[in-house]
Amino acid sequence: MTKKIAVLPGDGIGPEIVTEAVKVLECLNSQMALGIEFEHGLIGGAAYDEYGTPFPEQTLSLAKAADAVFLGAVGGPKWESLDISLRPEKGLLGLRSELQLFSNLRPAILYPQLVYASTLKPEVVSGLDIMIVRELTGGIYFGKPRGVRVLENGERQGFNTLVYSESEIRRIAHSALQIAQKRNRRLCSVDKANVLECTELWREIVTDTAKLYPDVQLSHMYVDNAAMQLVRAPKQFDVMVTSNMFGDILSDAAAMLTGSIGMLPSASLDANNKGMYEPIHGSAPDIAGKGIANPLATILSAAMMLRYTFNEIEAADRIEQAVNNALDANVRTADIYSEGMQKVSTSEMGDTVVAELKKGI
Ligand code: IPM
Ligand code: MG
Repeated sequence: MTKKIAVLPGDGIGPEIVTEAVKVLECLNSQMALGIEFEHGLIGGAAYDEYGTPFPEQTLSLAKAADAVFLGAVGGPKWESLDISLRPEKGLLGLRSELQLFSNLRPAILYPQLVYASTLKPEVVSGLDIMIVRELTGGIYFGKPRGVRVLENGERQGFNTLVYSESEIRRIAHSALQIAQKRNRRLCSVDKANVLECTELWREIVTDTAKLYPDVQLSHMYVDNAAMQLVRAPKQFDVMVTSNMFGDILSDAAAMLTGSIGMLPSASLDANNKGMYEPIHGSAPDIAGKGIANPLATILSAAMMLRYTFNEIEAADRIEQAVNNALDANVRTADIYSEGMQKVSTSEMGDTVVAELKKGI
């Protein structure tokens, strides 16, 4: 069966890291006859430069026709002065919304080889394995009304709307509860129910939905406490579920527990497990074009794609094992480098993973 993948490298380090992941997928494709076909498109600033919009029609049709979307990153200083409606981020948000990718899985796993790279003490983070489930197509990111208006006294006022309907909360709750069932069956729902009505409803609906999953132990936590607990004692968490903006913030914090944001993949799924896969880090314009970015988050996103959308479990396992072996071999990009290890470039890291895959034949 062919698997059509829309490849959208985007901006900054996006093209460099996506090249490495494609290299890895191509290797597996020939090893295992996976039937993967790639089609490239533009998104974000790269699309704006070419078509005057960060989210061209062609890209949307390409993504819709594909079985999965594979994305690098968007954004950069070059486009920061554009009107917000034309910024690269709008391309990414448009794709998430158009494809209804409401369930965003952000695993934060600490590889034992990288314990030293975390800024937290080894005993706090070693063995860390958290799954953050972030609602991705609702909440304050998409709520209306939004904008900047001029008040009667001439002062400008910015406003956004935090809004969640019951059905939006219920579907992400189901998603997270099902993921918890496949893990250690503990789910912590993060909200700000002591202040925001919208998240009070969130808590009520999550609690109600969880009744259908009696094997999952549900707890609730306010977002400020969750941020603190993530750096105080992160191993208390198994699965966390939260709204779009809280998930954006907490997943960056969780990323640093693992040593480098360059290690974290993500999957954004719709109701049928069609998905978009991307590293959780951004386009890192400061290091773009230098060949020093860590491609492992992107390569691990390819593994998530094989696992979640294509159900190619063995292929996904092979990628994860190859990454593990590359780390065992002490090969490191700059972000996870420590003395005595072999410092490599972006493409050398990709080559190492490919070489590990080939050894496994
Ligand atoms: C992320 C990013 C995006 C977000 C940006 C680039 C729009 O930070 O995927 O976490 O805020 O969702
Ligand atoms: Mg973010």
